Amino acid sequence: MFSRLIFLSVLCLFSEATSSLAQAPKKVMAPKSVSKLPAKGSVDFKVDSVLKLMTLEEKIGQLNLLTSDLDQTGASMRPQYKEDILKGKVGAIFNAYGVEYVRKLQKMAVEETRLKIPLIFGYDVIHGHRTIFPSPLGESCSWDLEAMETSARIAALEASSMGLDWTFAPMVDIARDPRWGRVMEGAGEDTYLGSLIAKARVKGFQGSSLSDPTRVMACAKHYAAYGAAQAGRDYSTVDMSDRTLRDVYLPPFKAAADAGSATFMTSFNELNGIPATANKYLMDQILRKEWGFKGFVVTDYTAIWELLFHGIAADSVEAVKKSILAGSDMDMQASMYMQRLPGLVKSGAVPVSVIDESVRRVLRKKFELGLFANPFIRMDAEREKKNVYTSAHLNMARQIAAKSMVLLKNDHNTLPLKLTAQKIALVGPLADAARDMMGSWSAAGEGEKNATLLTGLKGSLTSSQVEYKKGCEINDTVRAGFAEALKACANSDIVICAMGEGAWQSGEAASRSDIKLPGVQEEFLAEVKKLGKPVVLVLFNGRPLDLTNVLPNADAILEAWYPGTMAGWAVTDVLAGVVNPSAKLTMTFPRNVGQVPIYYNMKNTGRPYDANNKYTSKYLDVRNDPLFAFGYGLSYSTFLYSSPKLSAKSIGMKDTLNVTVNVKNTSTRHGEEIVQLYVQDMAGSVTRPINELKGFQKVMINSGETKTVVFKLTSNDLRFHNQDMNFVAEKGLFTVRVGGSSDATQSDEFELR
Ligand code: BGC
Repeated sequence: MFSRLIFLSVLCLFSEATSSLAQAPKKVMAPKSVSKLPAKGSVDFKVDSVLKLMTLEEKIGQLNLLTSDLDQTGASMRPQYKEDILKGKVGAIFNAYGVEYVRKLQKMAVEETRLKIPLIFGYDVIHGHRTIFPSPLGESCSWDLEAMETSARIAALEASSMGLDWTFAPMVDIARDPRWGRVMEGAGEDTYLGSLIAKARVKGFQGSSLSDPTRVMACAKHYAAYGAAQAGRDYSTVDMSDRTLRDVYLPPFKAAADAGSATFMTSFNELNGIPATANKYLMDQILRKEWGFKGFVVTDYTAIWELLFHGIAADSVEAVKKSILAGSDMDMQASMYMQRLPGLVKSGAVPVSVIDESVRRVLRKKFELGLFANPFIRMDAEREKKNVYTSAHLNMARQIAAKSMVLLKNDHNTLPLKLTAQKIALVGPLADAARDMMGSWSAAGEGEKNATLLTGLKGSLTSSQVEYKKGCEINDTVRAGFAEALKACANSDIVICAMGEGAWQSGEAASRSDIKLPGVQEEFLAEVKKLGKPVVLVLFNGRPLDLTNVLPNADAILEAWYPGTMAGWAVTDVLAGVVNPSAKLTMTFPRNVGQVPIYYNMKNTGRPYDANNKYTSKYLDVRNDPLFAFGYGLSYSTFLYSSPKLSAKSIGMKDTLNVTVNVKNTSTRHGEEIVQLYVQDMAGSVTRPINELKGFQKVMINSGETKTVVFKLTSNDLRFHNQDMNFVAEKGLFTVRVGGSSDATQSDEFELR
């Protein structure tokens, strides 16, 4: 009944709009020629029809995004959000989900406001909604684009079943500094892989049509260069060359835009002196003019207000003026557009055409999301009951989590466990820490539902085989639990230590200047090792850690990241060998924090490392190479690479080069290997990285089998911003490397002519 009413009211809007449009087209679009008018029946026509009915206050209302009080992801600055909805001063709401709740808010908008324009409901659905998948950095280590698209699709299905239209994801910030807590939300340090993942996640969230009620609108964030915060301190300054910006940090955003991401979110940081939220170059020039982005840009949380603290606005009026003129369409939670834009338009400082354009962008998405046709399209109580925590979702979460775990060390084939024969001591602060299993940004995840490693092991083995003692906490200095836990270890055949960071120690506002295991965990592990038992260390953490002191004290190390709802089951699958690990690091693990930022595609310098020459680029107290390189990860299988065979020694700009490599599984187990292709441009008009990932294939290779992998390279893959800032490939010599990590040494050369 209700949706029929809405339909009628929207119909009324359109019939009125259509007739007035016929009489006064200039008022609507001020077109130069009639051919510029949007076609009747098109979304743009409908948008303009609504727009012309709106007062200035109603227009500004569409640009206002407020948090509800159901959840909090920042300071709650506008408790009167419900009154604002009723007054038509809100375009979208975030931190509200659950069909019953959002339905109430939507009803206020579509029944009680003058124009009955529906709200959009947004939320941080970052790595799952109810069913939590591995944290995005962990998931990226699967290098499995299909899996990542699937987890985003399931997240969208669950979120949309609980009333949501919009996720603030994917986070596509390239990150080279593990001190920055937000590295856990992204896809790691590499531009090429990060761009493919950005595309997969956008597709997973959005599907092929925004009006699909089982999908949500994506938001590529944080635009731009947030991952380069100085010293890894969250929200800090970013100062970088335009070339690095365009070659390294922007491509994943471009990939998200090309994949159709409906929205973008500005970042908190400044970029070369101009905060992103007021940065016309980023939004107007690059995003809209160069990339042709047609969606809307939302600011990050209170980012307009923060322009005052950045020191580029003397007061809130100036902050608002700079933000809207730079291209920030929607104000998240600062409430400053609502307060200051009316005056700015009246004084002529902001042309009403600028407001109209932003409103158009927002209304267009409301139409595309299907909200005008049915404001309750994603508010179906039946779907809400049926679609969350389904066994299919839980199974997929378990599989993807197991695919994301990186085996860092496995001396003497300590893993997989010999299940029937072994008595296991399970120790460490993360062995039974349910909430921590899903890490940060698992907003609607229910911590108590997560399977811990204790649950997984006990459920898979006979319980008498497993003795659990915590030993110590994650982050304090109390050693009182050591003795009891060490006794359990002494009575066992093998020790599994579950250690790492608490969920709160990564994510937003969670930078660390010391990236070792926190508290007394290192010390406890050293005590365990002294007992002489085989030690398996399972790590749960959000960022690459400094594992230098840990490495000698564990025979095997499995980097499990934050695996999500099915954590304990998935880790047990890998430990027991039900799943053969295949993941590879997407971020470098340094030897110590002093090496940071450290990443595989650095530049050579004029004095590259030479152990015998003091005056080369190095440290006095630590080696140059990392502890674990980008692309590294072991398997229970072993693989042997042949040298690459090139189809030609020289190719032209329009040719394709085939790079062929044979990979043999030399073990007795079937296993998957991520075969990687790297290229080095030996001399350019500007200096080039020592290695760049240009392709990879994940292949299953049976025991004893050899698979042939063929990569195709063209000059398009070799482009960069040259001396004149043109995006081109340059003639010259290139080295090609293939292998199972960025340390790959099997190489050959070719010439581009
Ligand atoms: C974060 C964003 C997030 C927003 C809304 C901000 O603090 O930086 O990533 O989407 O809050 O919760």
